Amino acid sequence: MELEPVLSTSGRLLDHLPELARRAIRPAVWAYVEAGAGGRLTVSEAEAAWRSVRFRTRVLRGGGDADLRTTLLGTEVSTPIAIAPTAMQRAVHPTGERGMAEGAGPDALHVVSSNCGTRFDDLRAPGPWWLQAYLPPDRELFRPVVEDAVTAGARAIVLTVDTPHPGTKRGVDEEDWSSVDLSWWRVNYPRADVGDWKTDLDLDDIGWLREAAGVPVVVKGVLRGDDAARCLDAGADAIFVSNHGGRQLDRAASTASALREVAAAVGDRTEVYVDGGIRSGADVLAALALGARGVLVGRPALWALGVDGGRGVGRLLAELTEELRECLELAGCACPDDAPDLL
Ligand code: FNR
Repeated sequence: MELEPVLSTSGRLLDHLPELARRAIRPAVWAYVEAGAGGRLTVSEAEAAWRSVRFRTRVLRGGGDADLRTTLLGTEVSTPIAIAPTAMQRAVHPTGERGMAEGAGPDALHVVSSNCGTRFDDLRAPGPWWLQAYLPPDRELFRPVVEDAVTAGARAIVLTVDTPHPGTKRGVDEEDWSSVDLSWWRVNYPRADVGDWKTDLDLDDIGWLREAAGVPVVVKGVLRGDDAARCLDAGADAIFVSNHGGRQLDRAASTASALREVAAAVGDRTEVYVDGGIRSGADVLAALALGARGVLVGRPALWALGVDGGRGVGRLLAELTEELRECLELAGCACPDDAPDLL
């Protein structure tokens, strides 16, 4: 399959992206991107869980063209679809995080990993971005990282709480990593020896991060209503339902199955976001219907970046957004806020 014919036809990019990306991305990095924890049960269930959602469509509402604009923690965006944080983007494509930011463009949200290989002041993001945070064992060592990010324009911090340490992913270490520059890892840390992960994360870390950052804190990796409520009580500004793309605990619940309980526990207190296995506009509609305000893609954005840099990412987002627009209109919804009525 040639890249250019696929990219220049009107065919659905996402149908071809995994195969194109497998060819474009070097084998060790491809293995890392595709990896799942353990026996890959959680990875393999993610997409089917979204596809099992059915809509009670609405009719005769006089909706006209759907308006996809929304706000995510007060930031205006042209689509509820955003880019999830992922590491090793410079190994996926030479433009790395800059390409990803360019692909998200001026009006879509992009979350930058704290393990990223691009300095925040070199990101040149044309649109809104948030920083994802993994806290090191001594969280004070993260303070300069978060301060630099906020100075460079990060509008919120996404604290990932499902990773006291990385889950075991079979096959990744067996690949030949000699062609991959491992210095593209955590370039925004003032020192290399901060240690890996804070293994005893607790609710107090939310308040600490909020104070250190001075911008809203989103908690990523929540799969239960009671945890969502605890996070909000501890000062979190929003909840992000995620199982890390099936890369942490294998047999963790699918995000599609967890979302409704979390959204119910959060109620009107704040916003809920979700990721994991989102591969179409209909999947996004299912997520909105189950209570998400923002819906993020991880691997598809890496595939698009690997195949065609920022242009690929831009095309992926445009395609998903157009699919969502059609789904909303066919379901009788004038805007994303109408979606919860579909279940
Ligand atoms: C991730 N993810 C992730 N999450 C995070 O909070 N910080 C990170 O640095 C990374 N890095 C990372 C690398 C790679 C290669 C992947 C695939 C994923 C998880 C990511 O943010 C998101 O939760 C999942 O990727 C969503 O699932 P899908 O869209 O990939 O199915």
